[in-house]
Amino acid sequence: MKPTPALQLSRTGQLLAGPSGIQELMDDCGEALTLHPDMRMLGGGQPAAIPEVQKLWRQRMNELLADGAAFDRTLLNYDPPAGSPAFREAMAAFLKRECGWDVTRENIAVVPSSQTGFFLLFNMLAGESAGGVRRILFPLLPEYIGYANQALCAGQFSAVLPRIEERDEHEIKYHVDFEKLKITPDVAAMCVSCPTNPTGNVLTREEFGRLRELSRKHGIPLIIDNAYGHPFPGVLHGEWRPHWEPGMIFSISLSKLGLPGVRTAVIVADAPVVKALSNMNAIVSLANGNVGQALVTPLLADDRLLRLGREVIRPFYQQRSEFARQVLANALGDRLPWALHVQEGAFFLWLWLKKLPIPAAELYRRLKARKVLVIPGHYFAYGLDHDWRHPHECLRLTYSQPASVVQEGLEILAEEAVKAFAG
Ligand SMILES: Cc1ncc(COP(=O)(O)O)c(C=O)c1O
Repeated sequence: MKPTPALQLSRTGQLLAGPSGIQELMDDCGEALTLHPDMRMLGGGQPAAIPEVQKLWRQRMNELLADGAAFDRTLLNYDPPAGSPAFREAMAAFLKRECGWDVTRENIAVVPSSQTGFFLLFNMLAGESAGGVRRILFPLLPEYIGYANQALCAGQFSAVLPRIEERDEHEIKYHVDFEKLKITPDVAAMCVSCPTNPTGNVLTREEFGRLRELSRKHGIPLIIDNAYGHPFPGVLHGEWRPHWEPGMIFSISLSKLGLPGVRTAVIVADAPVVKALSNMNAIVSLANGNVGQALVTPLLADDRLLRLGREVIRPFYQQRSEFARQVLANALGDRLPWALHVQEGAFFLWLWLKKLPIPAAELYRRLKARKVLVIPGHYFAYGLDHDWRHPHECLRLTYSQPASVVQEGLEILAEEAVKAFAG
């Protein structure tokens, strides 16, 4: 039999078709949830199975099925590439009424997941341009692993290291280091996830204001990724909420509302950005999946989604986060030097094992062999022209799986960490 010829990849193919952190994470996570149910999954950004939330989506699906004509229309029809006009209208009315943002349907683009939305945005705004390579600047590392491999050209991403506040022996908070944040003419946009995946950090009101001021001064968009935050699922533990205004780009996903399977997100932006995104969407995807839009549209008529976040989803994760913190604190005790990032939102613990003698990637391998999946911290550091040791001492830990799984996983992690320190 003739050997299969080696796959010849284009430059874009080489960038996108090789291994990447996000592909490894999603493979690990997907296999743990399907092929290896004995794996303790503290890895992906999988939302938790929250009974009240699951009941709501089952009920909405039943309502959709009961209305035969609406159900048929949903499955049968391609939407326009910017999304269902009725959904865009309902979303704009919701954001105007509940959040006070000055938006209309023209400010709403539906995209097939925020992951896809970011790929389109980053490559629409930055990359090879007439005056050279334009960059997306991440002002606060560590930042979401899923952005790391989305650039279509070298030098398209750059990032700024945080100022690390050590609040006490076992607690840190990252801050934007405005001394180091320089907006040069090649910066096309800034982007921050808020709350941040992986750390659970939330920008302070002052940091948001200063980033907004910088972006206004330099005429570049400030992109805020609200996958875990405002307005839904609302997993923000403090009072402050970011506010969209013209010149900004906000991403809001249905995924962490318990609907990652519908692959639907919304980009809120100035009308020309929305039009450009939907034109790209037509080329890449024709249209969006419309089941998620159909499930959610009636809930946008009042404040039900906000209440669901406030009364069910946020308290669930807050309690889980506290539980996970306690388990880990008990297991690590004073056996080694460690700190957690303060929990201000999202679904993760960000653990810093100070002066960890092995790279976090090796600890990840040892833990995987013991059937515990975590994410080593270095995947969340990119856009740098030098190595940064700190994230090699860090792990991201998800606490959305059942409490017993979280507890076992964290206790095994503590055992392996102690072994690593003991050499
Ligand atoms: C910060 C952040 N942004 C975007 C995404 C992608 O979300 P989705 O593509 O499911 O909308 C995730 C997923 O975990 C995330 O954590």
